[in-house]
Amino acid sequence: MFDSYEDIFKKRARRYHQAMELCPLARATEFSLAVQYLNIKSNMTLFDIPSGGGYLKKFVPVEKVNYIFVESSDDFASHCPVNDHSCTLLSGLTELPFASHSADRILSLAALHHVENKQKFFRQCLDLLKTDGFLVVGDVDEESKMAEFLNIFVNKYNSMGHEGLFFTKNIEASLKDISLEVVSNEYKPFFWEFDSIQKAIHFFRDLFGLDLATDKEIFSGIEEYLGFGDGASLVSINWGLRYLCLQPEKQVQFNE
Ligand SMILES: C[S@@+](CC[C@H](N)C(=O)[O-])C[C@H]1O[C@@H](n2cnc3c(N)ncnc32)[C@H](O)[C@@H]1O
Repeated sequence: MFDSYEDIFKKRARRYHQAMELCPLARATEFSLAVQYLNIKSNMTLFDIPSGGGYLKKFVPVEKVNYIFVESSDDFASHCPVNDHSCTLLSGLTELPFASHSADRILSLAALHHVENKQKFFRQCLDLLKTDGFLVVGDVDEESKMAEFLNIFVNKYNSMGHEGLFFTKNIEASLKDISLEVVSNEYKPFFWEFDSIQKAIHFFRDLFGLDLATDKEIFSGIEEYLGFGDGASLVSINWGLRYLCLQPEKQVQFNE
């Protein structure tokens, strides 16, 4: 039987984290784009849902941000940075146990495709956001090269499979009855960057749990589904996400 993604990541977290440690800057552009959209200022409270091992923090150039890392996997949670300005909470994505209107910003990066009930997640974020706060969601588009890579290649070579439910073309329409307004909706192509092909293969094997693939098969999968690009590093692999920026709809005030 296909395990739930919550269970799958409980098993995959350790190797995913090893990949992020081996190549901490491979996804730098992906995180930096999220940070640009978040427009974070000092003293804001930023929820990262789900956070993995808290990778976001090193890409935020602002001091004194209060981070709340939310994870369903205790292995990931154990790697999140902890100090006076950050804490980690174990929670599923659709049962967020937080006070209403406590978030200035919420990020959800590379995770929503694991969530079936996206509307429930968005409703909870709406409840969590302050009236002037906003939510940034970065994820893969349906019918993209990345979606094929994940649902065909990763599905074949990860013994636990991969069945992502990616952003569809009607994502904006599906938000109409949740009082979230779309501030921006942009697809951004970028590279994942490595200083050698061996490291790239190692990263892909651990990040995606490709326990059934040889090095050669991983190389061919990258070449066939994603392709190599002309980035700043020795090895640049095409990737891309849609970044949706959403804010609570403004309530119109009528004078009595
Ligand atoms: C691909 S990782 C992304 C982590 C981090 N945001 C990043 O970009 O590296 C997916 C995350 O989603 C969490 N996750 C996946 N499916 C989940 C579910 N159904 N319920 C709760 N958490 C889930 C996993 O624990 C994991 O941290």
